[in-house]
Amino acid sequence: MLCMRSFEDLVAEAVAAPVEGWDFSWLDGRATEQRPSWGYQRLMSRRLAGVSAALDIHTGGGEVLAGAEKFPPTMAATESWAPNAALASKRLHPRGVVVVATGDEPPLPFADEAFDLVISRHPIAVWWNEIARLLRPGGTYFAQHPGPGTVSELVTHVVGPQPQLWALYEPEAQRAGAQAAGLHVLDMRMERLRAEFFDIGAVIYFLRKLIWTVPDFTAEPYYSRLRELHDLIAAESRFVTHPTRVLVEARKPGRSALGA
Ligand SMILES: C[S@@+](CC[C@H](N)C(=O)[O-])C[C@H]1O[C@@H](n2cnc3c(N)ncnc32)[C@H](O)[C@@H]1O
Repeated sequence: MLCMRSFEDLVAEAVAAPVEGWDFSWLDGRATEQRPSWGYQRLMSRRLAGVSAALDIHTGGGEVLAGAEKFPPTMAATESWAPNAALASKRLHPRGVVVVATGDEPPLPFADEAFDLVISRHPIAVWWNEIARLLRPGGTYFAQHPGPGTVSELVTHVVGPQPQLWALYEPEAQRAGAQAAGLHVLDMRMERLRAEFFDIGAVIYFLRKLIWTVPDFTAEPYYSRLRELHDLIAAESRFVTHPTRVLVEARKPGRSALGA
């Protein structure tokens, strides 16, 4: 059993595990994460089926976008992390989706009003002004963003509470960002979900892979906190924390995206 393995053994394995790409199967049997009830991929797929030009920002390895049943005649995706840009190209080019490797900051290499629909799931940053620029009048932004205090119990345990950072992800703060860019918010919903870690190796792998959770995370500076967490997991069989997710749908005012 994992909980019988020593702290040192679990840490050594987790710090050596490759974290490139966007596949989480390393965590199978070692951690679980509940998904929001609205089913982002299904809602995304439905919206893609009804437009003529769409863009997925921060596509990662393209895994989520690839779940769409049908793509519009023009479908583009951007990715700024080279290993994921390569993975996404391999996955999406055979399906006619162009993957564009970009820098970490806007502008994205597309003309003003190029898309009817811009989508994004779990972007590291939300570029509201850039999204508004890229949408045609009447076009829609549809996304699932991280919410406030996501996995706050875990972050608090490792580095302490981050109230100022968490406040930026409050739905009202997100709504204000969209409105300041001239978008009209149609839907803004939040869910607090459950995630469980069954060994400290899974925690370390997660923090290495989701590098923005504890910025610049490496295990060594946090050994004593991680060892405490290891002891807690051994005593309680798991560590429970709560990801939060915000569903966002916003429209750029103007004529209909389909020109009706
Ligand atoms: C949280 S990922 C979401 C990817 C995708 N939209 C999805 O939902 O699966 C957001 C962005 O972080 C990037 N990213 C992931 N790991 C990274 C790393 N170690 N360094 C830099 N960027 C990273 C991804 O490639 C992606 O562009």
